[in-house]
Amino acid sequence: MTAVSYQSVAYLIAALLFILALAGLSRQKTAKRGNYLGITGMAIALAATIGIALLGAEQPLLVVGLMAAAIVVGGAFGVWKARHVQMTEMPQLVALLHCFVGLAAVLVGFNSFLMQPGGYFEGQTNIYHLGEVGLAVFIGGVTFTGSIVANLKLSAKISGKPLLLPGRNFLNLMMLLAYVVLVALFGMTTGVEAGLPFLVAIAAVSLVLGAHLVLAIGGGDMPVVVSMLNSYSGWAAAMAGFTLGNDLLIVTGALVGSSGAYLSYIMCKGMNRSFTSVILGGFGDTPAKSGASKAQDLGEHTEVTTDEVAAMLKKAKSVVIAPGYGMAVAQAQFPVADLTKRLQKEGVDVKFAIHPVAGRMPGHMNVLLAEAKVPYDSVYEMDEVNDDFGNVDVVLVIGANDTVNPSAETEPDSPIAGMPVLRVWEAGKVIVFKRSMGNAGYSGVQNPLFFNDNTDMLLGDAKASVDAIVKAL
Ligand code: TAP
Repeated sequence: MTAVSYQSVAYLIAALLFILALAGLSRQKTAKRGNYLGITGMAIALAATIGIALLGAEQPLLVVGLMAAAIVVGGAFGVWKARHVQMTEMPQLVALLHCFVGLAAVLVGFNSFLMQPGGYFEGQTNIYHLGEVGLAVFIGGVTFTGSIVANLKLSAKISGKPLLLPGRNFLNLMMLLAYVVLVALFGMTTGVEAGLPFLVAIAAVSLVLGAHLVLAIGGGDMPVVVSMLNSYSGWAAAMAGFTLGNDLLIVTGALVGSSGAYLSYIMCKGMNRSFTSVILGGFGDTPAKSGASKAQDLGEHTEVTTDEVAAMLKKAKSVVIAPGYGMAVAQAQFPVADLTKRLQKEGVDVKFAIHPVAGRMPGHMNVLLAEAKVPYDSVYEMDEVNDDFGNVDVVLVIGANDTVNPSAETEPDSPIAGMPVLRVWEAGKVIVFKRSMGNAGYSGVQNPLFFNDNTDMLLGDAKASVDAIVKAL
């Protein structure tokens, strides 16, 4: 076998491992295995790429040195960032990582244009090649600036309010048309000097378009945008794969592109938003921070103490825990896991009900519960438990708000109308853990659940409250 065939076999194995990794990551039970498969695939891909680069290099030592430097610098930054990032800052970190993929696609596009022998192929091949280069630079550019804006919005370094320029959709359309014209003109050029201005213009249009697209989307929709940019970064990588003639990059990019697109779809469904309305922007303004719909008179709420909750749990046969963003803020997952263990030891049936958009990123609650070593078989998706709340004695709503808001079902004018929610109010008793009655949930909508007869509020930090209940038990 030649070196190139070895590389093809290695790439094929790596691609299969990536597909198996994605399959593994789709379920919490198999997620660890999925991660290891992905790591193995990446190690094989890196080894094959470096091996081939060395074989064909005129100065192998220089190539090894440059690659090692890139890996050390990138790896050191990645490890440092991963160790320091707070769980609540994950969405902005993911956005930042996507911007690197976009930038890489732009650089690969320019590189493959400038470094071709003479900058050009012959005839038809030339047009295809330049088309690929133009598309890689365009998608990469949109991903690059779009991800930077998403990062700045999520980290509150710029306002989360959507920037609504007059005729913004028309502007976007014009930029898209400008790209089509530019890439057609670029494809017809022969010679680096003639083509470069068009490629630079394509890059400039894509950078402005990426920033404008995401600036027009409100902070509320940013997590969907991050997942969408994840998809773009995949397609940008796939285009870079075409320009480099690298099959593995094409496969990997397509996997990331399609899984990101599907994830965006699932998130939109979980929030009852249409994908187009998110992309076109103008919605998802910064969520109201407090007291939204205070004017609405929902009656009086009742409060309980941690001792009373402990007594209730002792008597219960079945308990469901509905966690939300507040559990992440309070880092209450560890005492919650402890509480679960204790109750299960006493013979109480304890389940977790996970809403698809609980928290601030896909799988947020699953990650926290896995971190606290809650057994997988106690963790249920919303659809698996939503019809059973009628048979549940006590529901503990720990830092969740919008995802348990009945007005999504009962008030057609509510901003969250139509969003699927956990029907916790059908249970015998509901205990809501939150810090104060003043703050609304992410969507800024007041929650009538808190004022139901069978609901009691346990006000205070969720971690302190759960700790106290465990102590009382
Ligand atoms: P939210 O509606 O955001 O409510 C969080 C609740 O936690 C609030 O009631 C808050 O009340 C409470 N809380 C905060 N810190 C706390 C602490 N230390 N101790 C106790 N309670 C605390 O949460 P949710 O039900 O998880 O809903 C998620 C929302 O995010 C949905 O609207 C969803 O559409 C949106 N969203 C999610 C995603 C993804 S992918 N997950 C993406 C985009 C948008 P206090 O402040 O009074 O404590």
